[in-house]
Amino acid sequence: MQLFQGSAHLKNVETTNFNTSGEPILSIQNLRRDFKMGDEVVHALRGVSFDIHRGEFVTIMGTSGSGKSTMLNILGCMDKPTGGHYILDGEHTEKLSRDALARIRSQKIGFVFQSYNLLSRTTAIENVELPLLYNPKISAEERHHRALAALKMVGLEDRMNHMPNQMSGGQQQRVAIARALVNDPVIILADEATGNLDTRTSYEIMMIFQELHRQGKTIAFVTHEPDIATFSGRTVTLRDGLLKKDVVNEKVQDARAAFEALPPPETFDDEEDA
Ligand SMILES: Nc1ncnc2c1ncn2[C@@H]1O[C@H](COP(=O)(O)OP(=O)(O)OP(=O)(O)O)[C@@H](O)[C@H]1O
Ligand SMILES: [Mg+2]
Repeated sequence: MQLFQGSAHLKNVETTNFNTSGEPILSIQNLRRDFKMGDEVVHALRGVSFDIHRGEFVTIMGTSGSGKSTMLNILGCMDKPTGGHYILDGEHTEKLSRDALARIRSQKIGFVFQSYNLLSRTTAIENVELPLLYNPKISAEERHHRALAALKMVGLEDRMNHMPNQMSGGQQQRVAIARALVNDPVIILADEATGNLDTRTSYEIMMIFQELHRQGKTIAFVTHEPDIATFSGRTVTLRDGLLKKDVVNEKVQDARAAFEALPPPETFDDEEDA
């Protein structure tokens, strides 16, 4: 799959000006985030710039502590940068109040966490309905209808009345993906969404992300696993709070094919990923 024109020859570049048409859905410019720790300041992001265009599937990599989660939390409007610009769907978010930021988050962002973050004593469908509760324009009936459609998209309509503790980790993550989809966000952000899952289940989750991408969704997916990155069209790498690489993946792997090529579960159980 070739998502970009004119930049496929670039390798290991520090910044890449991808030739994609139109306004980016997301643009960060010289993004900085400092954390004060007593007398010391941790410079988690030290000036990161890149754009993501509509319909891209980007993975974000980098060693532990390189700033991936810090960046994704800002992209998800859960945190504000210390400096720089973050323009989401045409809006300069760095100028917004916390309340306005929360509104943007609920309207434009779908976030998937490593540990699912589902409400425990709440059914799958109620968990998926949750982001719609903040929108007074959506009736209870419409909410149910949309949540069910999102659960169908991740193949879990038959588990709609299950509680999180009645589902496997992979199923819980699929509910979390449905919850991220239900608002029809402009971008889906995922922070190590396969980090708690074994390889087989991870690849099943990546099949869902690839399907969403095929349907036109824009996705930014943080991972430290190189095999997961091969399922996306582009990989951005951070190091020490700076952009290290921004490359097109020449050979995007098909998650379903990778899943089918795995050894069967019986022989696989003993060698699950840590
Ligand atoms: N709330 C915070 N207060 C202080 N320092 C923080 C805070 N959040 C992150 N940091 C620091 O910022 C740096 C980047 O952290 P971040 O969590 O973004 O890394 P990461 O790339 O997501 O790592 P990992 O792969 O382990 O999840 C680290 O040095 C971390 O200790
Ligand atoms: Mg992290």
